[in-house]
Amino acid sequence: MKVLVVGSGGREHALCWKLAASPLCDKLYCAPGNAGIAAVAECVAIAADDIEELVRFAREAGIGFVVVGPEAPLVGGLVDRLESIGIKAFGPSAAAAALEGSKGFMKDLCARHNIPTAGYGRFSDAGAARAYVVLKGAPIVVKADGLAAGKGVTVAQTVEEALAAIDEILVSGRFGTAGAELVIEEFMAGEEASFFALVDGETALPLVAAQDHKAVFDGDKGPNTGGMGAYSPAPVVTPELTAQVMERIIRPTVRAMTAEGRPFKGVLFAGLMITTTEGGAEARLLEYNTRFGDPECQVLMKRLKSDLLPLLLASAEGRLAGMTTEWSDDVALCVVMAAEGYPGEPKKGGEIKGLAEAGAAGGVTVFHAATKDGGGGKILANGGRVLGVTALGGSVRAAQERAYTAVDRLDWAGGFCRRDIGWRAVAREA
Ligand code: AMP
Ligand code: GLY
Repeated sequence: MKVLVVGSGGREHALCWKLAASPLCDKLYCAPGNAGIAAVAECVAIAADDIEELVRFAREAGIGFVVVGPEAPLVGGLVDRLESIGIKAFGPSAAAAALEGSKGFMKDLCARHNIPTAGYGRFSDAGAARAYVVLKGAPIVVKADGLAAGKGVTVAQTVEEALAAIDEILVSGRFGTAGAELVIEEFMAGEEASFFALVDGETALPLVAAQDHKAVFDGDKGPNTGGMGAYSPAPVVTPELTAQVMERIIRPTVRAMTAEGRPFKGVLFAGLMITTTEGGAEARLLEYNTRFGDPECQVLMKRLKSDLLPLLLASAEGRLAGMTTEWSDDVALCVVMAAEGYPGEPKKGGEIKGLAEAGAAGGVTVFHAATKDGGGGKILANGGRVLGVTALGGSVRAAQERAYTAVDRLDWAGGFCRRDIGWRAVAREA
């Protein structure tokens, strides 16, 4: 079977790395891919959100299965378009991707179906939004309704901060149409985890959980990013909590989406806030994403022992019932190397040396997130998050040591990383 992966990040490199190893995959393409992905797939120069060109390429190249990495083409209807011409695809329809594409839709769905999440209001009028914030007080969370590349959320510690966020989104129009509406919600305290389940419209198959580090600097300081590192398993997501999340959050969502005429298939990524009290741990939903997390995908793929392709195909074809997955008991940990300036304007073009040496470290795979071939064997940084150095180890500490051993073999003047990825889990282990 000919497979096309859509996207160009570390998540897509990890997906390509697994799919290329599948005996069912005869030929692997990636659009647009990057310099690391080029080692396992043929890269095709089509942007991930160019739906017309992707559909044309898939038809002309005789692609049998398309795996969509990022959210934009999902919300843009790529899966609908492919299926309408008989090409199978992994990921939700545009109608089902609204779980990620509209925070207001997601909150209303949770409210209608009693799915545990923070209390909220939806606003398109700045005056009404301000009045709500003043009424509720701080801390409080202000979110642009639509896709804002991870930058649309303000966790406001004061009423003033929340009012400023409202003005920035509704009045100044920082996010364009994605910010034409707001969700304002109750602040939830606790520990965050990323939970993943494959869904085929009816059956939900839990994968494993991970935790990421959103803040750019050590000690979880500085502005938020797409994720500076991740590890799996997430110690806070016990088997009991997994059962609870499936029972109270994932399965009710899958049923609700089908009942409302938007059957969900693909991967459901629940961002959870977990609070532990004397009565036990309880998970509430922070957000849904309708794709794999990045860098969570890198640690999931490193731990997944099963062939990925039949699982993704089963999701697309409604055959998940009875399927199982097998995982390494080891811990996988990913350290993201970013270019100076990230999450603001990253410096592009710096040469990265030592990739082979880093990749040769025990248990390590270096996934590329934003690199390009500079010719003559040179690999150049080409974005904000540039590499995902991912290691397996018998403990969080062991995986962490291996990952940083590999990081230290890299020679890239313009790159940086956090040195404390996994700190919370390491502290738990100790
Ligand atoms: P989201 O994109 O909705 O996941 O929000 C991004 C980040 O903002 C989350 O990972 C949390 O750290 C934080 N956040 C979002 N909503 C809340 C909330 N209701 N309470 C506390 N923190 C939140
Ligand atoms: N790492 C969080 C995300 O992919 O949304």
